[in-house]
Amino acid sequence: MHCFKSSLGAQTALLIVAGLALSPACGTEGPGFPIVIKFSHVVAPDTPKGKGAEYFRKLVQERTQGRVKVEVYPNSQLYKDKEELEALQLGSVQMLAPSVSKFGPMGVKAFEVFDLPYLFDGYAAAHKITHGPIGASMLKQLRAHGMTGLAFWDNGFKEFTANKPLHRPEDFKGLKFRVKSSKVLEAQMRALGAIPQVMAFSEVYQALQTGVVDGAETSPTNIYTQKWHEVQKFMSMSHHGYDAYAIVVNSRFWDSLPADLRATLEQSLNDATRYVESMSARDEVDAISAIRDSGKCQVVELTAEDRLSLRRALQPVHQQMAERVGRDLLESIYSATRSDQKQSDATPPLPVAVR
Ligand code: LMR
Repeated sequence: MHCFKSSLGAQTALLIVAGLALSPACGTEGPGFPIVIKFSHVVAPDTPKGKGAEYFRKLVQERTQGRVKVEVYPNSQLYKDKEELEALQLGSVQMLAPSVSKFGPMGVKAFEVFDLPYLFDGYAAAHKITHGPIGASMLKQLRAHGMTGLAFWDNGFKEFTANKPLHRPEDFKGLKFRVKSSKVLEAQMRALGAIPQVMAFSEVYQALQTGVVDGAETSPTNIYTQKWHEVQKFMSMSHHGYDAYAIVVNSRFWDSLPADLRATLEQSLNDATRYVESMSARDEVDAISAIRDSGKCQVVELTAEDRLSLRRALQPVHQQMAERVGRDLLESIYSATRSDQKQSDATPPLPVAVR
């Protein structure tokens, strides 16, 4: 088994201990096979990310004939949001797929550009960035932080949940909303008159249940698989933001792999990316139906006027946050997707389920 020692010293000693405890053979077998890739993530197995990770695991097992073993740890089983990024840098896990909103606290602010409300009109526009040179140059920025960005995966488009129906900006006023660790998302909630509260994903269900926060936002697949719909009475079909994941590996681990294996892993990841993209939109629709059918959470469909009022209230966040995410990056995304978000009054897209 390959082992990678921390270069970050005692900073997060606990994480190293945790990582080593999960690798009992580490250091005793010497370099050899199988090479183990611990792939940690925070969502349920039955989500686009969970299924993509499992698909990748299977492809790697087959294509490397067992020389590389991917171990998938879902549902924050090993680490929560912030801890998993530290664990990756330390080499306690080798692979993650965090939401891009979670890189900001590490100093990689550009990734928060995807959090800008209504940045993309749909998957096709988002993929122009995530599959193109802009996405590639964003991923390169991660090298300075000890990680190598390999791909973007779709989570889906986000909807808001709360215990009241949210149609227009005034409905958000004074409510506390859980957000990911992104300054853009904090600004988004403030623009609606709400109070943002940063919180790890694994803590949201309980925070909603106990009223620590009043509402939240994520993809329908996450809402359903985390059972937020059992503790939130309404899900408003705002479809207000694209949620992407960046697939990242520990750079020292990645660079040390034999070139042929690295190529096989890259190809397997490309195939897993296509697989995730082939199902995320469909899974989104299925999750919306399942939430509706549960009878526990009402799916609130917004009128064109409602959506326009939300869009108008949220549009200023683009300019407010342009310096933080990088004005040039934002302009390049506008021109690559040919949308003029600064002036646009076009109504935002709706998921297929409510069209
Ligand atoms: C969240 O924290 O809301 C999501 O990023 C969780 C995930 O990984 O989908």
